[in-house]
Amino acid sequence: MRLLSLRLIVSLIVGVALVSAGFSYYDVLGEKRALRSDLERRAEVLGESLVGNVERLLNVGSGKNKGKGEARLGEELQRLVQRFGTRENLLGIVIFDRNGAIVAVTPELAKTLTTSPPAVTQAIKQGREEGAFAKLGNLPVHILALPLHRQDEVLGGLAVVHDVGYIRARSLLVWRQAFFRVLAQVLLIVLITLLIVRWSITGPIARAAQWMRALRTGKISFGQDVPDLAMFRPLAHEVATMAESLSHARSAAENEARLREAGESMWTADRLSVQLRTRLDDGHLFVVSNREPYIHQRNGKAIDVVVPPSGLVTALEPVLNACDGTWVAHGSGSADTEVVDAADRLRVPPEDPRYSLRRVWLTKEEEEGYYYGFANEGLWPLCHIAHARPLFRAADWQHYQDVNRKFMNAVLEEIANVSKPVVLVQDYHFALLPRLIKEKRPDARVAIFWHIPWPNPEAFGICPWQRQLVDGLLGADLIGFHIQSHCNNFLETVDRVVESRVDWEHFSALRQDHRTMVRPFPISVAVTDEDAAENNNHGFNYLERTALMRSLGVEATFMGIGVDRVDYTKGILERLLAIERFLEKYPSYQGKFTFVQIGAPSRTHIKRYHDLLAEVEAEAERINWRFQSGKWKPMVFLKRQHSHKEIEPYYRAADLCLVTSLHDGMNLVAKEFLAARRDERGVLILSQFTGAARELRDALLVNPYDIDQTAEAIRAALEMEPEDKELRVRRMRKLIKEHNIYRWAGNLITELCEVRLDAPEDTQEKLRANVFVA
Ligand code: F6P
Repeated sequence: MRLLSLRLIVSLIVGVALVSAGFSYYDVLGEKRALRSDLERRAEVLGESLVGNVERLLNVGSGKNKGKGEARLGEELQRLVQRFGTRENLLGIVIFDRNGAIVAVTPELAKTLTTSPPAVTQAIKQGREEGAFAKLGNLPVHILALPLHRQDEVLGGLAVVHDVGYIRARSLLVWRQAFFRVLAQVLLIVLITLLIVRWSITGPIARAAQWMRALRTGKISFGQDVPDLAMFRPLAHEVATMAESLSHARSAAENEARLREAGESMWTADRLSVQLRTRLDDGHLFVVSNREPYIHQRNGKAIDVVVPPSGLVTALEPVLNACDGTWVAHGSGSADTEVVDAADRLRVPPEDPRYSLRRVWLTKEEEEGYYYGFANEGLWPLCHIAHARPLFRAADWQHYQDVNRKFMNAVLEEIANVSKPVVLVQDYHFALLPRLIKEKRPDARVAIFWHIPWPNPEAFGICPWQRQLVDGLLGADLIGFHIQSHCNNFLETVDRVVESRVDWEHFSALRQDHRTMVRPFPISVAVTDEDAAENNNHGFNYLERTALMRSLGVEATFMGIGVDRVDYTKGILERLLAIERFLEKYPSYQGKFTFVQIGAPSRTHIKRYHDLLAEVEAEAERINWRFQSGKWKPMVFLKRQHSHKEIEPYYRAADLCLVTSLHDGMNLVAKEFLAARRDERGVLILSQFTGAARELRDALLVNPYDIDQTAEAIRAALEMEPEDKELRVRRMRKLIKEHNIYRWAGNLITELCEVRLDAPEDTQEKLRANVFVA
């Protein structure tokens, strides 16, 4: 570093000195030129006026007594040159006759001038003015020689001689000044540069190095005391990413060691990726879902990246991050086509690419019929017992089949060069896809995970295409549901709808020689590591809450939180009614308890959803109107999608979280709330009709249709003893930490990889024909 600084200084000095010397040289040259031309001009003026006077004397003298006259003329000429010979820098004036002999000369000049200088000889000979810079002895001079005429005859010459030593002296002075100026400039520039380098380059780099050292030696954790490297933004980004990876690797290793030590079998991202590498040939996983994890939206000239409000995305993103796989999904963003390559792929997450996203394009009609129509107006209300009537239109069904085939083509392209690929199909949008893929690639292991409930056979039976749906699903090697009762409902449906043999002992169905396993895999979230600094920080959430409430323009002592897509299955209206009832029954909480509902508008293209959004808004307004006073109001409805990062502070600051789904496959909000409560506080009020209610037994379970019961649960939550709250949250957090999303994916993939693939057709045929029987 010191050598580098020295080099920098020397280069700077040489550079600045050269440039300044160049400029000074031109300054001196200019000054010299100006002084010389000034001298020439002055010599000319003097010379011309002298010539006039001398010629007049010569003309007068020619007509008189010659001998006497010549002597007098000589005297007069001598007087004349002496009179003029006292000008500044003038060495002297001399008059020659036509033969070059001196006729009159000033005394000073007489000392150095003995012969006629060449300029004078030349002027007499040519009969015209001659000027030259020359030397008299050692003295630098300027000589202006002018011929002297009588009519046309040249009688002699006159020379005006200037001492030019002052021009040299002046040049030297300019050089001296330039030297000191250059010296001052060099010192100033070097000083400023060194200060800039120190403040903006070496200082931040040294701080970054110190920070990385502290990070490497484990003295600080990632995100703590991050140095500001504003000038090196790209470098800073890389350093931060590297530091983050390092920090993750360290905590993963520590975690792993801790788990080994404790003999626990906890699932982590690293364990999952090791598991996948051993289970799958190249560790590559293929996931298919309708919803994509990142949506690119055009926003004027910019492109925004949006993470959609989807439990499926929340759950699967960490899985794909853990193993470099391919996620095939519908490209639904307005700028999605602009960011993909020729094969419609891109690497995501945009900040730290770890896996591939393959986008599938749908026409407006396809999206309308398949997604809004059949999937969300047909299958969604069919599977959720929320008393919304399903709509089954033949045109929608046609689009559903076409889009399933379109996704099949995309999947086949992606797995073309992979032998025995593992494909995880997601959700009710793709009931037909497992069979479509298996027909083309029997060597593929295909699982489908159904993220929503499966109703009983009677309820499912109203779907006109129930047989085709069940048949499509049975193409899979493994079908996953959140809970056992959905598995049971499904197998009962299979039993009734298609020709097959249901094996209740092993929970599988055999149809056309293909066996499909049916298993519960309760989905979960990725619970982050404990943050020791935040544990046991009793005042933390209260401060955070006050700030949050202030930002919403409300003052309240207690706070509740609800986070949902605005969907009729989520029981949001019932929740608002329960809050109203609670305030009615327990008026002492009026002015004190505020409920914040974060509602992400969803599927608003469908009238039912569009109307619900307005209904929720109107209901919140009505209840606010009824109770609000001063700076307090009972509810705040935040009607927009919030990122996970934006939601987290609400989870952490809330006294309670309300999940009141009328029917829900799992509900990850309940688990996200618990994951966020590293302080082991807060109460979860949970609908008994969610899949999560089967696992989270320490929540206050409610029937969301029972408004009074939910109102009582709110009171119980607010008045629960702190020890009770802590015990419940601790137990539930332990459960979701053990049963996290990595375990979900690990179990699903392990089970899928253990499935015996069907024997090739010829072998099967032989088996049927008893060829192998001795
Ligand atoms: O619950 C089913 C589901 O697909 C979830 O996985 C997801 O959270 C939600 O619906 C999202 O719905 P959409 O993709 O239609 O916005």
